[in-house]
Parts: sequence; structure tokens; C-alpha cells
Amino acid sequence: MKTVDQCTRSLAWWLISELDWWGIEAPLVAMLCSLCCSIVLLVPLYYVLRYIWELFVIGDLQNKPVFITGCDSGFGRQLALKLASNGIPVFAGCLTEKGEDSLRKDSQGLQGKLQTVALDVTNDESVVKAAETVKNSLKGKDLWAVVNNAGIFSIYGPDDWCTIDEYRRSIDVNLLGVIRVSQAFKPFVKKSKGRIVTVSSVAGRYTSACTGPYSTAKYAVESYMDAIR
Ligand SMILES: NC(=O)c1ccc[n+]([C@@H]2O[C@H](COP(=O)([O-])OP(=O)(O)OC[C@H]3O[C@@H](n4cnc5c(N)ncnc54)[C@H](OP(=O)(O)O)[C@@H]3O)[C@@H](O)[C@H]2O)c1
Repeated sequence: MKTVDQCTRSLAWWLISELDWWGIEAPLVAMLCSLCCSIVLLVPLYYVLRYIWELFVIGDLQNKPVFITGCDSGFGRQLALKLASNGIPVFAGCLTEKGEDSLRKDSQGLQGKLQTVALDVTNDESVVKAAETVKNSLKGKDLWAVVNNAGIFSIYGPDDWCTIDEYRRSIDVNLLGVIRVSQAFKPFVKKSKGRIVTVSSVAGRYTSACTGPYSTAKYAVESYMDAIR
């Protein structure tokens, strides 16, 4: 039986003999064939490894509470409902009462208990109060994870149009909000040897001309996470 390497070579040499007539260089063809064969092998390998990885199930979910910020809408809300439907106790930080009410309604009947917590990440007191509420509600359990999700996309436009207030607002929510919450909840996560997950953005690695306030905050949040890693 031929090995993969032998197949690659046969294919390369067949192509070389065919393409030689067109004046295309043999090493180039050989290189392209190797590349194609590597891709053909690596893609299925990736999916097989990923499938195996996903077979591992984390156990004891009902004893692994998670705190999430920004659960009124979007990713935070989706995550809160998803975790609760898998049996994980969730503390869902919500900015508004309306958000809390609708999340409570939507989480009724889910396997895991979802408790909403009033939270404005721009307000020191609100963050400290949320941490106390979570601490008093843990009832002997350890907090397994914190998800810093709350964020705003404050403005879209070139820097000439952006005011200092718009930068300030973006930094207050997207950066200082993450720092406030991480510092207030870090003792719980240290005790449980858990984790802090922060939702950053591609804007924290790449800046376009029109995303100044958002990108500066997201770059800084990447840096903060590196600092506490
Ligand atoms: N959507 C994307 O394409 C995208 C891409 C990359 C990264 N992200 C990041 O993903 C995260 C979630 O984004 P999303 O798209 O789900 O946005 P979203 O729907 O606007 O959700 C953000 C949540 O944060 C809440 N929030 C805003 N200010 C807050 C504050 N001061 N304190 C506490 N909560 C506050 C919002 O509450 P209200 O609804 O009451 O305002 C909302 O529930 C953000 O960090 C964002 O930067 C999003």
C-alpha cells in the first residue's frame, strides 16, 4: 500500500510532467502539491481532534456557579440562558430592571438556577454590591468563573468626530468595567482555582480608522488580561 508521502510524490511528478509543457517550474508544482495534500490531511485531522475534545464532558455542573456581566441582551444573555439550561447556576449581572425581569421570565424552568444581579460596571459601589450579593448567595459553593461580557460600541467615525467624553465612556465600560469586576471577584476565583473570561474583540488586535474609542479600550483590556494572567 502506498504511503501518503508516496501519493504526494506521484501526484507531484504526474503534474510536473503534464505542466512541463506549459513551462511551469517543477519545484513550484511540487511545492503546491505538498501544500494541497497537507491541507487535505490537516482539515479532517482538525475536525477529528475537535470532535474528540468535545467528547470530554465537564462534570458536577450544578456545583460550578458562574457570574456574567451585561446579561440584559446579546451574548451575555445568550450565555446565561445556555449555561442555565445545562444545569450551571448562573448569576446574571443586568444593567436595567427591565433586563432582569425579562431574563428571569425566560429562564423559568431551566435546569440550572439563574439569579439576576443589578450591576452597572461603571459604578464602583454597584460592582462591590454585586460581589456581596453573589458571595451571600453562593451558600458554601465556590464561584467557578466570571465572564466579563458587558461592553458598548460607543461611536463609529474618524477621530475628528470623536469627543473626549466618547473615549471616556468607552474606556469606563469596556476597560475600567472589566478591571472593577475582575478585582472585586478575583478572591472568589482564586479560592476556587477558577477562571476569569473576558469578551474582548478583534478591535483589540486591529484598529480601523473609525473605531478609535472602542479599539483603544479593547486593546487596553487585552493588556489588562495579560497582566493578571
Ligand atoms: N456583537 C459583536 O459583533 C461583537 C464583536 C466583538 C466583541 N463583542 C463584545 O461582546 C460583548 C457583548 O456584546 P454584544 O454584541 O452582546 O452587545 P450588547 O447586545 O449591546 O450587550 C452588551 C450588554 O452589556 C450591557 N451593558 C452596557 N453598559 C453596561 C454597564 N455600564 N454595566 C453593565 N452592563 C452594561 C448592555 O445592557 P443594555 O442592553 O441594557 O444596554 C448589554 O446587556 C461586548 O463586550 C462587545 O464589545 C461584540
